[in-house]
Formats: sequence, structure tokens, C-alpha cells
Amino acid sequence: NTDGTGAGKRAAGESAADLVSDGDLVGLGTGSTAAHAIRRLGARVDAGLDVRGVATSYQSRDLAREAGVPLESLADVRRVDVAIDGADQVADGDLVKGGGAAHAREKVVDSAADRFVVVADDSKLADALSHPVPVEVLPDARATVREALRDAGGEPELRAAERKDGPVVTDNGNLVFDCAFGTIEDPGGLARDLSTVPGVVEHGLFVGLADEVHVGTADGGVATRS
Ligand code: A5P
Repeated sequence: NTDGTGAGKRAAGESAADLVSDGDLVGLGTGSTAAHAIRRLGARVDAGLDVRGVATSYQSRDLAREAGVPLESLADVRRVDVAIDGADQVADGDLVKGGGAAHAREKVVDSAADRFVVVADDSKLADALSHPVPVEVLPDARATVREALRDAGGEPELRAAERKDGPVVTDNGNLVFDCAFGTIEDPGGLARDLSTVPGVVEHGLFVGLADEVHVGTADGGVATRS
């Protein structure tokens, strides 16, 4: 975040949680910004709001339990009223996600939402996407996928775990490449290309999915872009 205190993340997350109405099924995103939304939703449930959540990761599930937001299993869900989720970079409404390796479930939940609200502080805004794209891969396909990502013009790096020797293993039991492509001129085209690589479970380009973006600033203000 830009201010070191997370005030922008908090403002964005809380303003999105305030959009939720009685009876909604809410997609609960992953990351520190979405966490503010989940906590705020928990406070609203305490105050009498009747909602259910669907989690996008272990992190958001645990947080929802702690905050007292009742949960539905994703396996039982066909559509979601509103999904609230963070992003690693936002340009023109398109996103790079997956900094927390949760983008596969996030994409399922965010795509199933009637209203997908992105929450971010202003440090995430860019003119064009250039953030390395997280690509979740089947472990045994890592060599062939690495080749295919290089052929697509990327520089894939297997994501290493921080407090364990070896790679990050996702909630789904897979590995993640962070793949730099420089400035991404055609996010839609790259998203389609990555989706066709055998062994790729999901990539972190979210193109044309967001309905609105809530951008928080260090002074606690929020600007909404749709
Ligand atoms: C999780 O895999 C990501 O898609 C997060 O939504 C993203 O990394 C945003 O995280 P922060 O809100 O913590 O910046």
C-alpha cells in the first residue's frame, strides 16, 4: 500500500462490504484488501445482516469463520450475487491476480457473480498491465508448461515458498509460475493463449470480468470506477 498503514486497502474493502444487501450470496476474495471486506461483513452480520459467503481460499474461509459470516461450499453454488476481491494490478478494468496463489478459485467465484467488485488501494493502478502473471500448473506438467510459457514470450519463474524449502503448493495441490511478459499490449489475447496450454489449471489475467473497481487512498477516501 502507498501509505504504510493500509488505510487505502481498508477504505476500499469496507466500502465494497457496504454494498452487500440482505439475502445476498457473497464471493469472499483473498488477500489483505478483501480481508477488510470480510471483517466488515462479519460486523454487519453481527448487526443483523442476513448473508452467506462463498470462500475463494483457505484464508478467506478461516477469516469468514472468525468474523461470523456463514459459508456455502463452492461445489453447491451456481451463481453469486456480489463478489468482492482484490488485485495485484488494475489497468482499464482488467486485472492481474494470484499474488496469494488463489486465482483459480477466485476466477470461478468472481466469474459467477452478477456484480464483481474489485477492491484495491491506489498503488495497484497502472496504465497497462505489466505485473508478472501467476500461472497455476499441474505439478507433473511444469516442464512442458515452462516451455510453452517461454514460447509465448514469457519468463516463467517457479514460485518458491517463503517459510518452507521448495515451491509454493496451492490450495488445489498445484504449483505456480510467475511469468513476466513485460507490458501486456493485448491482455485478452494473452489470456486466451495461456488458457490453451495443456497443464495450465488457471492463470491470473482477469479480462473483462470486473464490473466496478473501488480504489482506496491513504486519507481513507474511495473512488469508484466502472
Ligand atoms: C490472491 O491470490 C490475489 O489474487 C489477491 O487478491 C491479490 O494478491 C491482492 O492482494 P492484496 O489485497 O493483499 O494486495
